[in-house]
Amino acid sequence: MLDKNLKCPGFDSRSIGVFDSGFGGLTIMKSLIEKLPSESIIYFGDSANAPYGDRTSSEIIKYATDAADFLAQKNIKILIIACNTACACASKIIKQKLSIPVFEIITPSFQTVLKESKNYNIGVIATRATIRSQIYKKLIEQHNPKARVLSLSCPLFVPLLEEGHFDNKLALNLAEHYLKPLKKKKIDTLLLACTHYPLMKGIIQKVMGDDVKVIDPSLACALNLLSFLEKNGISSLNAKPKYEFYTSGDTEKFKNIAEVFLEKKIDQVLKK
Ligand code: DGL
Repeated sequence: MLDKNLKCPGFDSRSIGVFDSGFGGLTIMKSLIEKLPSESIIYFGDSANAPYGDRTSSEIIKYATDAADFLAQKNIKILIIACNTACACASKIIKQKLSIPVFEIITPSFQTVLKESKNYNIGVIATRATIRSQIYKKLIEQHNPKARVLSLSCPLFVPLLEEGHFDNKLALNLAEHYLKPLKKKKIDTLLLACTHYPLMKGIIQKVMGDDVKVIDPSLACALNLLSFLEKNGISSLNAKPKYEFYTSGDTEKFKNIAEVFLEKKIDQVLKK
């Protein structure tokens, strides 16, 4: 009989590692559970150090590489950096450091918004660090010279969401305040380029109105990963996949928020 953890040609039952600065990567994890239901996942939310988006590049590199090393020690087959801020600042370094494949989410995200936009007036909202890097603006405009990207950071969204305010008056007021400048422009699509933001997609859509398509790229990220695993013969056939959770923050708070968002009972959340 084959050892369950043994890599065999064509299949690999080891877990996928996923990390974010906090709860945001759960939006990616939810799509992974939906589209890759046989895959086991180990999630790490670095809530003690969130938000990454207001930190310097060197701090983000330090926290993101620590998070990547932590998961890499857990015998994972692939690492997903489910945090745009960490991808923008540290994905090259993490790829160089690790011997397993590293999957970043910026590529499937910008490709999705380019596919969805009709007039190529594209809004991008993200953390300060992601906007400062200009990575989305550069990639979108390089791939379609007709595109015009309007970028905006919404620094208080992440602390608000980390406190569990997904869908209330506080979140609505803040979204109205931040998104006002974008409402005056003729954008037809708005990319949620921070994995926390889909947690308040309903509110963002309400504020932007029906003429703007709000894009949550998490499903596209999951589908991209699915085809990567299949192409490389490292999909899993687990009938009962395992989901493990770690946080550097408060384990009880993590468990409560993650259960609501994933609509799943979680056995335990361990402290990193
Ligand atoms: N969820 C993260 C992102 O996609 C980072 C949020 C933060 O910690 O500032 O950028």
